[in-house]
Amino acid sequence: SHRITMGPLVAAIDQGTSSTRFLVFNSKTAELLSHHQVEIKQSFPKEGWVEEDPKEILQSVYECMERTCEKLTQLNIDISNIKAIGVTNQRETTLVWDKETGEPLYNAIVWLDLRTQSTVERLISKTPGRNKNHLKHKTGLPISTYFSAVKLRWLMDNVDEVHEAVVSHRAMFGTVDSWLIWCLTGGKSGGVHCTDVTNASRTMLFNIHTMTWDPELCKYFGIPMEILPSVRSSSEIYGLMKICSSRKSGALSGIPISGCLGDQSAALVGQMCFQDGQAKNTYGTGCFLLRNTGAKPVMSDHGLLTTVAYKLGRDKPACYALEGSVAIAGAVVRWLQDNLGIISASEELEKLAASVGTSYGCYFVPAFSGLYAPYWEPSARGIICGLTQFTNKRHLAFAALEAVCFQTREILDAMNQDSGIPLNQLQVDGGMTSNRLLMQLQADILCIPVVKPSMPETTALGAAMAAGAAEGVSVWSLNPEDLSEVTSEKFEPQINPEESELRYARWKKAVEKSMNWET
Ligand code: G3P
Repeated sequence: SHRITMGPLVAAIDQGTSSTRFLVFNSKTAELLSHHQVEIKQSFPKEGWVEEDPKEILQSVYECMERTCEKLTQLNIDISNIKAIGVTNQRETTLVWDKETGEPLYNAIVWLDLRTQSTVERLISKTPGRNKNHLKHKTGLPISTYFSAVKLRWLMDNVDEVHEAVVSHRAMFGTVDSWLIWCLTGGKSGGVHCTDVTNASRTMLFNIHTMTWDPELCKYFGIPMEILPSVRSSSEIYGLMKICSSRKSGALSGIPISGCLGDQSAALVGQMCFQDGQAKNTYGTGCFLLRNTGAKPVMSDHGLLTTVAYKLGRDKPACYALEGSVAIAGAVVRWLQDNLGIISASEELEKLAASVGTSYGCYFVPAFSGLYAPYWEPSARGIICGLTQFTNKRHLAFAALEAVCFQTREILDAMNQDSGIPLNQLQVDGGMTSNRLLMQLQADILCIPVVKPSMPETTALGAAMAAGAAEGVSVWSLNPEDLSEVTSEKFEPQINPEESELRYARWKKAVEKSMNWET
């Protein structure tokens, strides 16, 4: 059969909290040619704990690669056209493995996990003035259960295998990017132990000004620096794929892995937000609004994080972003499905909510992992309020969608206050954006238009762009003028701003209750 001749292709591994994907793009047109997705199991061994299996994560990557390669072959596209692979990942999720056996020493502790709440409260209580922003001048982050350092500390203190491996110099720490790159470049036989600046900036061990691991921070958390990966830019060749030829994905062996970005940074790149002031909001398991602030880190006065947005090449300057992080967005849909059973697939939620078109005064604050931005309150817990005899599951479904929109409104307000220049529209992406009701509600609650690109896989696209643009690969230009036109869909606000404000004010009351319900 005849093979289609194609320009260079670039692939991306997108390892998110809820699923793993492998995607292949045409670097000339940014067209998505083929992809495959696999769900990831989460385990909740105790209240507030969230874990994933590192081996399942790795296996899911292999499976996605294999299936995608099969699909390419069916399309008569030659796999040897793939010139580079990028990695993008759920951030902060913490792993430790043994470099001699290659085995993980515990499950991955997922970013949402709350087991370190008491550690966090103790650390904050010891700072002058009980200041959760005590380390913010270096890290851009508040002391919180969210970031890797406290999770790593917990592993060293509570898991014998981790403790022993650290003492005997066999331990390697990494976020999911590091784990995957190490495994895919050879693992115990010569794997590359590295991370990129965006992922490093989420550990709380990284100084975002000097762009290096910070000895003082490591000392503060009691982390030995030798277990940390080396920190690289987001776009350079880290190593070559090394896959045993008996695997079906063996055809990918030898391809450089040359892009690495935390998923929120990758989405910023994939949405082409390269200019100071440009922003995007991604609706995944959580919801993350990032606004590019250019070459300088801007410290928030309104509860946002300062984070490294990207550094697209060893000799390129770093770009920073302000970030509003919401812990629970898509996760609330999964909760309605798995824990309450009111839907049997996430796609059903839109229909259920649309059948009533209002929450009928019901407000649902899904503070399952405490509240993140702008509150950073680990002791907050979820509440549903405003119930009457009349309330049913449809109203609850609607309230869940509204919750995602209200949380976005809170971080958008904070962002506008910090920057002084309000966004006049919001660029969005992520799995939940296929929910048209959600998009309309979002425009209504923000009182600005919401703009969604027609190609929804912007996170993977960003990682592929970084990989394709790397020195030594250079099949993808990051010059916005060379990039093909992006088509998009716009949702205009349809309700009057007074009504929107009224609903938002009620939401704020519900949030207060979620923070104070214990006292
Ligand atoms: O910080 C966590 C974030 O990177 C997870 O993203 O898409 O899995 O919700 P997502």
